[in-house]
Amino acid sequence: MTSSAYRKFAQPQLSEASIQAVADVLRSNWITTGPKVNELEQALSQTFGNRPTRLLTSATGAMEVALALCNIGAGDEVITSAQSFFSAMNMIVKCGAKPVFVDCDLVTRAIALDQVEAAITPRTKAIMPTHFPGALGDMDALYALAKKYQLRVIEDAALVQGSKWQGKPVGAFGDIATFSFHPNKNMTTIEGGAIVLNDEAEAQRVEVLRFHGIAKLPDQTRDVVEASGKFNMSDVSAVIGLHQLTQFDDFMAQRQVLAEHYFTSFPAIPGIVLPPQGQPDQTWNMFCVLIPYENFGHTRNSFRAALHDAGIGTGVSYEACHLTTVGKSFGYTEGMFPNAERIARETVTLPLHVGLMAADVDEICAVVKRVLVG
Ligand SMILES: Cc1ncc(COP(=O)(O)O)c(C=O)c1O
Repeated sequence: MTSSAYRKFAQPQLSEASIQAVADVLRSNWITTGPKVNELEQALSQTFGNRPTRLLTSATGAMEVALALCNIGAGDEVITSAQSFFSAMNMIVKCGAKPVFVDCDLVTRAIALDQVEAAITPRTKAIMPTHFPGALGDMDALYALAKKYQLRVIEDAALVQGSKWQGKPVGAFGDIATFSFHPNKNMTTIEGGAIVLNDEAEAQRVEVLRFHGIAKLPDQTRDVVEASGKFNMSDVSAVIGLHQLTQFDDFMAQRQVLAEHYFTSFPAIPGIVLPPQGQPDQTWNMFCVLIPYENFGHTRNSFRAALHDAGIGTGVSYEACHLTTVGKSFGYTEGMFPNAERIARETVTLPLHVGLMAADVDEICAVVKRVLVG
């Protein structure tokens, strides 16, 4: 049995109970930030080793707030991977700092720590690595480096909620971690994000930063203590997250089954690079493969079109940040980060979400084989 005629590459799974709970919140007359946000923050904190956790409207907003929290701005440098979604680069640029790109591992896509060390200057304030499904980079080495040079670390953990390093969930150790609850992520709040922090003082500053920089004065009036934006999550979103969290382990187990089916069913074709296999305690938000399309008489577009015609949705995760218009404006050019550039050229994201069944994955693999080698 398969799931449906058209397999989207990602799709949220919303229970009837969560839909009912949204209606209840809407009828409660308290629909913006309130008790459900508090409840979800506490529930998430428990999954992050009881570290202070605050909700925001997106992971991108969480990164903007994280950079402000670390007092990063004009004249500072932040080291980040050339292969990631655009959020880290954009938020670094937006706060006035310079994004210093380095390459990543071709298979795990983890930031290349030897290149990080070489890129550190007296202006460097932080490292912003992105974690990818299937394997984390060496977190001990990352934090040893950060400690050696007294750098902050802001982990972009948007894709890896639930993944563990040596038995500890991402977010439960280290410095700052940001998570996304966009509908394509491991759990959703429609749009939303979380930031995991070191202590209550940081959490209190995040509460100020996520709401206009407002602090309440003893006389019940308000002060603006630092100029900031507005990133507070609504209770409507939070109640969805609470329901998603109760299903989280089942979601991850299903994603694991699907990833294992990809590894067993994927055609063994020379030149194709699969994601890392067999690392313990990893969650599977995406299944991205690298394909040298021209070896099979294709471009990525013609390959994706052939899959689309066979009822299979695909994505591209991700383009190379340093080759975007914004990246190039900092002097970056083609050829500087070969792994990031190869990933950007060859990557394709295949369907992987909780609505899929193992038989879907087997069929997708059969179509990939037919399209590439007949
Ligand atoms: C690696 C990574 N980081 C950050 C984000 C941004 O997440 P959000 O949409 O919640 O801002 C995404 C979204 O796709 C992502 O894939």
